[in-house]
This record gives sequence, C-alpha cells and structure tokens, in this order.
Amino acid sequence: MKLLMVCLGNICRSPLAEGILKKKIKENHLDWEVDSAGTESYHVGETPHPLAQKIAVHHGIDISGHRARRFSKSDLEKFDKIYAMAKDVYEEMKFIGGKNTNMQNIDLFLNEVSPGKNLSVPDPWYGGEEDFKYAYKLMEEACDKIILKYGRQNSGPLPL
Ligand code: 4NP
Repeated sequence: MKLLMVCLGNICRSPLAEGILKKKIKENHLDWEVDSAGTESYHVGETPHPLAQKIAVHHGIDISGHRARRFSKSDLEKFDKIYAMAKDVYEEMKFIGGKNTNMQNIDLFLNEVSPGKNLSVPDPWYGGEEDFKYAYKLMEEACDKIILKYGRQNSGPLPL
C-alpha cells in the first residue's frame, strides 16, 4: 500500500505524520510506502521545522533527512490513500487536481479517528512546543487507527 500525507508547507504536520507512520509500519512488519507533500511551495527543499524535528527525536523518529516538496496533480494517481491534514489542505488538493478530480482515495487524516467529523490537525506553524505536542498526539492516534484498519488485512486471523 502506498500512502501520502499532505499539509500546507510539508515542514510541520505531514513530515511528522510520515515519520510516525513509517515507525509503526516497521514495528508491524508491513510492506507499505509513505511519502508526504505540501499544497504550497513556500518551503520547497527545506528541512522540517526545528520543533517538528525536536518532537520527532523525542519519540525516536528522525525526520531530518526530509525535504519539503509540493503536492502535484500526478500524486493523485500514484497513491492508494492520500490523507489531508486539514480541511483547507483538502480543498487545495481538489483545486490542484482540477475538474473531475477523483477524490475517492483522499480523506481527512482525522476521519480515521472520528469518522465523518471532518476535523483538522491544527496548524502548529504559528505556535510553540505545546502546539507541536498536541498535533503529534492527534496524528499518532490517526496512525494507530490506520495500522489497525489496513495492517490486519495481510496478517491472517487474530489469535484467540
Ligand atoms: P504545515 O505548517 O502545513 O504543517 O507544514 C505550515 C508551514 C508553513 C506555513 C503554513 C503552515 N506557512 O504559511 O509558511
């Protein structure tokens, strides 16, 4: 399975979501690929925000090698599941995709935690360490749900 995490700048939320999910994929021995991108180009080529890197390291995750890239229309064809970190990101992806965009594989990330509620991961860009911590907590919950939901499919029946 190929998954893409998308936020605005690809320097705060989506690289963290990518890092968290990659760690859990490894722990669960899953054969999945994860990438991330941003709908805006302001930070293309940059490393993740220092506070995103700090909280990642705190959880044993190294995202320092990530470089921000912009989400493109072709991404819509390349991934099995695409997660928007927030509603504005979802709308922007729709705009980039243009008319007749197939949004079937795209969902808001937090709908994995609260189905149908269309909640957003608050943008920590303007905030401080507490805001990054809160975003991390929300994203970790969503990653756990994704592993439970899709990771069981190839692993046979559960033990009694
Ligand atoms: P992200 O956070 O979308 O989680 O990477 C942001 C980063 C930069 C900006 C906005 C959000 N910005 O306006 O530059």
